Amino acid sequence: MLKLPGLIDPHVHMREPGASHKEDWDTGTSAALAGGVTLVLAMPNTNPPIFDAETFDLALTSAAAKARCDYAHYVGAGPENARAVAALASQAAGLKMYLDMTFGQLRLDDMTLWQEHFQHWPRERPIVAHSESRSMAAVILMAALYDRSVHIAHISLREEILLIKAAKQRGIKVTCEVAPHPLFLTQDDMPAISRGHPGRGEVRPRLATQADVEALWQNLEVIDCFATDHAPHTLAEKDGENPPPGFPGLETALPLLLTAVHAKRLTIDDLLLRMVTNPRKIFGLPEQPETWVEVDENAEYEIHAAEMKSRCGWTPFEGWKVRGRVRRVVLRNQEAFKDGDVLSSPGSGHNVRLPSKSNS
Ligand code: NCD
Ligand code: ZN
Ligand code: ZN
Repeated sequence: MLKLPGLIDPHVHMREPGASHKEDWDTGTSAALAGGVTLVLAMPNTNPPIFDAETFDLALTSAAAKARCDYAHYVGAGPENARAVAALASQAAGLKMYLDMTFGQLRLDDMTLWQEHFQHWPRERPIVAHSESRSMAAVILMAALYDRSVHIAHISLREEILLIKAAKQRGIKVTCEVAPHPLFLTQDDMPAISRGHPGRGEVRPRLATQADVEALWQNLEVIDCFATDHAPHTLAEKDGENPPPGFPGLETALPLLLTAVHAKRLTIDDLLLRMVTNPRKIFGLPEQPETWVEVDENAEYEIHAAEMKSRCGWTPFEGWKVRGRVRRVVLRNQEAFKDGDVLSSPGSGHNVRLPSKSNS
């Protein structure tokens, strides 16, 4: 049995408020625990989007009532809310800027709007950008101009990782995350994922080429975090008209990465650096005392959505053979997950950005 610290996932979509038929704070944090994740940072592209004090309160109320693992919540950058969100900075996971088309209403097109957020958001608090290709280059320039850090969400392209590498070499304060699917899937996997429903393969950024995947693996040292970008949508939605982009990922990330460890593509230390140490440092997160994950690293099994806690009911990795199964999760000295069952209760999760409750 392998004993790991509780994993941190800085990029999840909980879908509450507004779309709890896809996921809610109960099922989403249950999926987290089943995947060995004890702390999630939740994205603001809900309905309504989380972009001011009122909507932030809405999201935090749901989370406080239902979360079964620890969490913090992002606020979203809109065209007119730079001052309003900056006032929430100390309570938020960070500021999320959507700079390209993806799921949800939040988007900033004009670069002067980006600048307003860079001016107002506190320098020591995280900014995360959904920025693909050239918008990524632009937001890195902006971070350099304002002499502050920026974290690039879900990179997937060779040109992206090589540019981040070059920026880091010049001392620019840029960090990045990669989700499991760009490490394990390419465009060529679309037919197997789609099974006749092309909408299932929709994800932003889109699945890339083998050369892109290889560039990510070859430049592992440039990747600061593995983040799932857990983006659940139901199969009915994925198979319907206008399929929304996104893959669920909380319950498959650790087994996929442990399988890669077994194949000697990376080490356990590489994994823990990117799923515990670096996210804690980049996002300024507290340690979770008496929190750990027990993994049977030799257990081989097939991934099946039917066994998952996520409400979305499917996975792009259906039928994949993996090695490494989460057996037990202990969160702040309480058994939170054991052999397939979530044991922590809704509302037991702590918001790590609020002053800590008593040590219970
Ligand atoms: C995400 C979603 O569904 O919220 N979709 C996706 O394809 N990654 C949005 C996002 O992270 O860009
Ligand atoms: Zn995104
Ligand atoms: Zn996302």
